Amino acid sequence: MKKHDIIENIKIEKLIFGGSGLATASDGRKIIISGGAIPDGIVDLRITKSKKNHLEAQIYRTVKKSPLEKAIPAEWQLYGGCKWLPIPYDKQLEIKEQQITEAFHSLKWETEQTDWHTIIRSPDSEHYRNKVEFSWGKYISEREGMHDDYRFGFHVQGQFDRIEDCWYCVLADELTNQVFRDIDIYARGSDLPTYDPKTGIGFWRHLVVRRAKKTGEMMLIFSVNGTWDTEKVGITGTREQFFTNMVRELSEKYREIASVYYLENMSRADVVQGNQVLLYGAATITDELLGLTFEIQPKSFFQVNTLWAEKLYGRVIDSIQYKRWVLLDLYAGTGTIGILLAKYFSKVYSVELVSSSSEDGVKNADRNSVTNVEFINAKVEDFAKQFASEKGKADTIILDPPRDGLHASAIPHILAFGAREIIYVSCNPATLVRDISIMLGRDMSHQTTDTNATEMIADQAHQDKKETKTTLPLYRISDITPMDMFPHTHHIETVVRLERV
Ligand SMILES: C[S@@+](CC[C@H](N)C(=O)[O-])C[C@H]1O[C@@H](n2cnc3c(N)ncnc32)[C@H](O)[C@@H]1O
Repeated sequence: MKKHDIIENIKIEKLIFGGSGLATASDGRKIIISGGAIPDGIVDLRITKSKKNHLEAQIYRTVKKSPLEKAIPAEWQLYGGCKWLPIPYDKQLEIKEQQITEAFHSLKWETEQTDWHTIIRSPDSEHYRNKVEFSWGKYISEREGMHDDYRFGFHVQGQFDRIEDCWYCVLADELTNQVFRDIDIYARGSDLPTYDPKTGIGFWRHLVVRRAKKTGEMMLIFSVNGTWDTEKVGITGTREQFFTNMVRELSEKYREIASVYYLENMSRADVVQGNQVLLYGAATITDELLGLTFEIQPKSFFQVNTLWAEKLYGRVIDSIQYKRWVLLDLYAGTGTIGILLAKYFSKVYSVELVSSSSEDGVKNADRNSVTNVEFINAKVEDFAKQFASEKGKADTIILDPPRDGLHASAIPHILAFGAREIIYVSCNPATLVRDISIMLGRDMSHQTTDTNATEMIADQAHQDKKETKTTLPLYRISDITPMDMFPHTHHIETVVRLERV
């Protein structure tokens, strides 16, 4: 079996983390399947990689639909960003719960006494996103005989230069869909070309729509090619005037539009960035979480599923057993968790890398009259080292890192704070289990260049075994709660509570 071969009648056994399907080839090798696998479906596959121990393949043809597959309403659009739509929501939750259990397999012994909670579902399984990023582009393919100069929707997964038209995004709310469709009409009628990432030529690049769930306020962020000269294509007046007219009409039609920006993007990178110009309304919109209000700027981090975020923060608050003196909110974003928990502690340290997020945090604390949170704009690994060297102590630590998990050099310092409990909020079961294994002294194989960190833990684990005497405290996994923030996608969140023993 080699690359490009078609293999027939393969039964998809299950879905693995990352959303790929898993099956077994006739020679016993496992096959990792992309392209919308659904368990129990029978498919023909085209091999994309043939490795010694496994194959990678794409679905070529569906031979027999999975009995799990349900029909989706005709007006809903199935695209890469919601590829689990044909799987019933309860089944999605079952699959995610199973994936978390499997991820913790290597810590079987350590989780024997652990309290496993049932997965917490998202309050809404559709229309839950408060932020949607659309892209403009083209669809040109000689092989398919396709030359379409105007596309507005979402990137085809894994293809940076291909856009799939969107007509209805089921994850966005109704108003976002209506506004998006109106903007589509304006952009098409403008005669300005869509951006081509291969040549750097063209005007329209991205539209981000942010909609505050509780207040209803909407923010529009247009990202356009800052190097494009609109006069050349015959637009009368300046680029700003064109936008001002469009925005005036939109804001008269949709009263919810509270803020509109455009970003002049000078870079070829496919990211929403650039010189920020406020075209209309207020500089920020506000939303509410568990009774507190938060300001959102164009680039602010804010959990994209607001109602689910309240469940997450509620779960974090409920899992904390020692609410008293010092809380460390590490990887804090705009400080939401620390601000919500401030009333339970004498002092909260909120540590975040991105300076604009820390600044938002200061404003959010002020806005809610919270005075005991100190915002520290630093890398967690640097803060941890410094705080440890000053013999800082904490009762509770919240860890909410990005997908890559904790920086290995931070772990021994975090442990040295001697917190009674650590709450780890994770969006990646693989790095979660890796980090916890290290924290429990079970696995020294962390991929790191920081040998000191690994050695320090390894030495400690060795000492513990030899002398049952500790300098770094030991922890046990007290409870695990899987949570579903992103229905119809493969993403999973998990909240794990570690307790000092
Ligand atoms: C999952 S988000 C945190 C969300 C936040 N706890 C909330 O609920 O709103 C992870 C955050 O970690 C920050 N970050 C990434 N690497 C970091 C580092 N080395 N040190 C500090 N913060 C970091 C990111 O900028 C991001 O805001």
